Amino acid sequence: MKPVEIKPGVYWVGAIDWNIRDFHGYSTYLGTTYNAYLILDDKITLVDTVKKPFLSELFHRIDQVVEPEKIDYLVVNHVEMDHSGSFPEVVERIQPEKIFCSEMGKKALQKHFHNQALPYEVVKTGDSVSIGSKTLHFLETRMLHWPDSMFTYLPGDRLLISSDAFGQHWATSERFDDEVDMGELMRHAAKYYANILLLYSPLVQKLLTKVQELNLDIDMIAPDHGLIWRTNWQQIIEAYDRWSKQLVRRKAVVVYDTMWHSTEKMIHAVANGLIDEGVEIKLMSLKACHRSDIVTEVLDAKGLVVGSPTINNGLFPTVADFLTYLKGLKPSGKVGFAIGSYGWSGEAPKLISKIFDEMKVEQIIEPIRIQYVPTHEELKKCYQAGRDLGRKIKESV
Ligand code: FEO
Repeated sequence: MKPVEIKPGVYWVGAIDWNIRDFHGYSTYLGTTYNAYLILDDKITLVDTVKKPFLSELFHRIDQVVEPEKIDYLVVNHVEMDHSGSFPEVVERIQPEKIFCSEMGKKALQKHFHNQALPYEVVKTGDSVSIGSKTLHFLETRMLHWPDSMFTYLPGDRLLISSDAFGQHWATSERFDDEVDMGELMRHAAKYYANILLLYSPLVQKLLTKVQELNLDIDMIAPDHGLIWRTNWQQIIEAYDRWSKQLVRRKAVVVYDTMWHSTEKMIHAVANGLIDEGVEIKLMSLKACHRSDIVTEVLDAKGLVVGSPTINNGLFPTVADFLTYLKGLKPSGKVGFAIGSYGWSGEAPKLISKIFDEMKVEQIIEPIRIQYVPTHEELKKCYQAGRDLGRKIKESV
């Protein structure tokens, strides 16, 4: 695939990773891309690099525009290895005159690659550098999602190169939002937000305010993963506003694992109660669904029910894994309860309830615990709990 000119003199020269299936615990079942951008001007500038195994793909694309050795400046918007894994080899080959990065970026590069003597140029929000006819403006986006993260903005081109923000893990032959199905694109963008940025939602709100205050004139957002927003860029900004406010719908996610199907029966009874109250549900078994897909559904759900059998006095391992992951992402404003079957000790629902307390999930009832196999009467109690939760959700959304 040739480089793609996204604006006059600005080229996508990144790499497509069709087959990656796990991105630090996130299921990337349709792969991803590592986007890098080459800017032709008096000072030829490369913004970001790619994951190390894709170094030759990066150079192959750059080569079709300009000899890599002619690149003058390198901008490192973000140091995580999917963007900087090939940094040492790129620096070795192009011998940049200057490497622009944030203060935290310089520290992170030095901690990653142990090369103190490179020509780092530390920039902060508001700094800019002329590269000829174009100017690069820098905007630090600390903790979105690493301390070093920053944006590079080209006012003349109305182009925001946004690092991880507004990205999606989706490998495609197309490069622009208007070349793919928008519904699918937004689903990938939502999954990305839920799994990468959700815990930093208050900072996303501040950043969106800051971008408004700066009155940045934008008509294209070029993230470091996935499709470039050239037509629907306002739609992704609006979605980030909604997601970072953690706005929810009349929807509940019902998550569980099961040993001998007793917890599963209880969960189905709860789900039926919710459905009969007219609440949309997603019933997600941890045997069938990846944690990152469940978190994506939690993003806009008001209700959350988690079920686990008790094993060895504790949580079922998949439930423990899911709750650890979910808690770390700091979803807020949920309402729900814990549930589970047990043989003799029955700790699991109480452990879920404890984690719900830590996550500030409003629990409408004490955990439901049923020994061995639920009776019809016990399943009616689960169904009623589902209906009660459904009513609660409808009252609040
Ligand atoms: Fe795509 Fe935080 O790296």
